[in-house]
Amino acid sequence: MKIISSYSIKGGVGKTALSVNLAYALREAGRRTLLLDLDPQGAASFYFRLESAKKFKMRDANSMAEGLRKNIRESDFPGLDVIPSNLEYRRLDILLDGMTKRRKQLRSILEEFKPDYDVILMDCPPNITLLSENVFRASDVILVPVIPTVLSRRTLEQLTGFFTDEELPGDMLRPFFSMAQKRSKMHREIMADLPTAHPGFLKTVIPFSADVEKMGLHRMPLPAYSPTCAAAVAYRALCAEILSQPSLRP
Ligand SMILES: Nc1ncnc2c1ncn2[C@@H]1O[C@H](COP(=O)(O)OP(=O)(O)O)[C@@H](O)[C@H]1O
Ligand SMILES: [Mg+2]
Repeated sequence: MKIISSYSIKGGVGKTALSVNLAYALREAGRRTLLLDLDPQGAASFYFRLESAKKFKMRDANSMAEGLRKNIRESDFPGLDVIPSNLEYRRLDILLDGMTKRRKQLRSILEEFKPDYDVILMDCPPNITLLSENVFRASDVILVPVIPTVLSRRTLEQLTGFFTDEELPGDMLRPFFSMAQKRSKMHREIMADLPTAHPGFLKTVIPFSADVEKMGLHRMPLPAYSPTCAAAVAYRALCAEILSQPSLRP
């Protein structure tokens, strides 16, 4: 069982697109997958045509685990379950702050789900908060979409710096290029340069593609409605790259 997170300090970089399409690809590869939508905006839940999670008590790890379990929904794709988001998740930071072991609660909550799934994939909200710190301590692998721009490079550096300062294992951070445009000189230059500074950079590149934006219209993962388009092929390749590495393989 592996816990994989889709995380970045930045918003709008392709975290949710990754979560939804990777969840689908993992399930195609035969992995029993649970997607946990932690972003109160609930975009991943929306893409799977699911309503918000029902409100539940978030007093402690036990009540949270119970509430999350009651909210497990089957997606339209057998072998892929989803726990949708709820606007209440915006309060998670404050709630976690009042608990003992406030950085490790999510880790104990997810223990409960381990026997039933091969992979738990978390779609995270942006920013760096107490919830993010829980995500860091609960995950085996953190996938970080990076648009090849100067600001994205800067936020990746902030994240690796945070891991160093907090003595978290930096090798669990696995960045990859998202929304890459080969026609852009700046994208090409950053793509040539940045992976040399980050040994964990994944090789697969997700191209910029209008097909991905149409997920909002189709409300399903990209490979389900356009299995052969370049971006769908790229998401499958990213999944294969993860499955091919012993340290990442669920
Ligand atoms: N590879 C891509 N090519 C083009 N548009 C993309 C791509 N990935 C994501 N998008 C679009 O960019 C926006 C932000 O993506 P999203 O996955 O929601 O980012 P995040 O979860 O990091 O905020 C969405 O409108 C989405 O459709
Ligand atoms: Mg998102």
